[in-house]
Amino acid sequence: MRPSQVFLPLVGIVTSVVASPVHHVTETLNHLAAREEADFSCFNASLPNVTIYATGGTIAGSARSADQTTGYTAGAIGVQALIDAVPQLCNISNIRGVQIANVASGSIVPEILLNLTQKIQEDLDSGLTQGVVVTHGTDTLEESAFFLDLTVSSEKPVVVVGAMRPATAISADGPMNLLAAVTLASSEEAEGRGAMIVLNDRIASARYTTKMDANMLDTFSGENGYLGKFLNIQPVFYYPPARPLGHHYFNVSATPAENGLPKVDILYGHQALETGLIQAAIDLGAKGLVTAGVGAGSFPLSGEELQRVYNETGMPIVTSSRVPAGFQQGRTSAIGAGFLSPQAARIQLQLALEVGLEYDEIKEVFEHVKLR
Ligand SMILES: *[C@@H]1O[C@H](CO)[C@@H](O)[C@H](O)[C@H]1NC(C)=O
Ligand SMILES: *[C@@H]1O[C@H](CO)[C@@H](O)[C@H](O)[C@H]1NC(C)=O
Ligand SMILES: *[C@@H]1O[C@H](CO)[C@@H](O)[C@H](O)[C@H]1NC(C)=O
Ligand SMILES: *[C@@H]1O[C@H](CO)[C@@H](O)[C@H](O)[C@H]1NC(C)=O
Ligand SMILES: *[C@@H]1O[C@H](CO)[C@@H](O)[C@H](O)[C@H]1NC(C)=O
Ligand SMILES: *[C@@H]1O[C@H](CO)[C@@H](O)[C@H](O)[C@H]1NC(C)=O
Repeated sequence: MRPSQVFLPLVGIVTSVVASPVHHVTETLNHLAAREEADFSCFNASLPNVTIYATGGTIAGSARSADQTTGYTAGAIGVQALIDAVPQLCNISNIRGVQIANVASGSIVPEILLNLTQKIQEDLDSGLTQGVVVTHGTDTLEESAFFLDLTVSSEKPVVVVGAMRPATAISADGPMNLLAAVTLASSEEAEGRGAMIVLNDRIASARYTTKMDANMLDTFSGENGYLGKFLNIQPVFYYPPARPLGHHYFNVSATPAENGLPKVDILYGHQALETGLIQAAIDLGAKGLVTAGVGAGSFPLSGEELQRVYNETGMPIVTSSRVPAGFQQGRTSAIGAGFLSPQAARIQLQLALEVGLEYDEIKEVFEHVKLR
């Protein structure tokens, strides 16, 4: 088979089995009862069970031709076609595919994330699944991976994987990344490490990894991010299992997905910043703000305006930086993001607001590193 043909037959899409809150218990029982050997793409009783939750992205992307690697349609191919393209998966584990969404990752919204984390929690709690893989566009993959790291309570591996080349491209990276991700999700050494990101033969921490290049295959990095790599498609870790310092679990298992999460906006710092954008975000319903300041968190022109907003509303404002690495301290009107990127700080602030933490508790969650 020519590489360009690998994904072209778009065979049956497995649709998601999603429970409405009202029928949750019945739906759950049916869902588990229905999980029989026939629900797996292949079954061997000696192998672990892994569920692949597909959300779309480039890994499921389709282009006009095998040499097109930009300007293609992300989220075009269903989860079963992704699975069928990698027959080696069946030698690693029993695979069940669940289509949660099929969108470019810029279109992932809190409703999808809540559906996803609740399904994963239920799946891992069932005792019948040893690990899960989430396929996702790379553009906002770090946000969903961090969300899952903070909201799934399990020792079992949660692996988020994407691709930089669409499924129809020559040397598409999706099939190898998917095989690596399933291998990781099936592996006992992967337990107790929270959510992990897999791309380009690397295993990265969901907390500290960020997309650094819009086009290159090795796009994910971060100073504190790598946990290990794949050798012969086997995961090899640098350290024993551990959760990052400052990790906080947020229980959103009872949040109705359709409610979404409290709105938090990011304000990007630059020269000649329009101060009125701060009030505009509040007028549009923001319940918290994250500033992507310049350097060590200074917010141009508007420090005074932020202080006023904090004085008047008591709203949590988290100060982070547009600089890709570094530490952000708190100040009187703002909570320090520490090592978190603006987009990671936004996810954590949304969750803190959703579970009803008070201002001081939110400050404690973010400012776990105490500087003299
Ligand atoms: C979330 O799941 C519910 C069913 O529980 C479904 O009705 C809804 O469409 C899903 N929302 C999104 C955004 O996928
Ligand atoms: C099932 O998996 C085991 C363990 O990997 C392997 O030894 C065995 O050959 C497999 N059976 C089949 C029918 O593929
Ligand atoms: C699965 O493993 C068996 C036994 O090692 C091997 O013969 C077979 O080619 C493998 N299948 C794939 C698709 O790699
Ligand atoms: C995998 O799933 C099947 C079907 O639900 C179940 O019978 C089996 O016990 C599961 N295997 C493991 C290791 O949990
Ligand atoms: C999360 O909250 C639900 C109730 O909403 C509870 O049943 C569950 O045990 C909690 N999970 C953890 C890990 O505390
Ligand atoms: C905010 O409140 C503090 C303490 O009450 C006060 O010193 C400061 O002048 C106020 N700043 C603004 C901009 O309102």
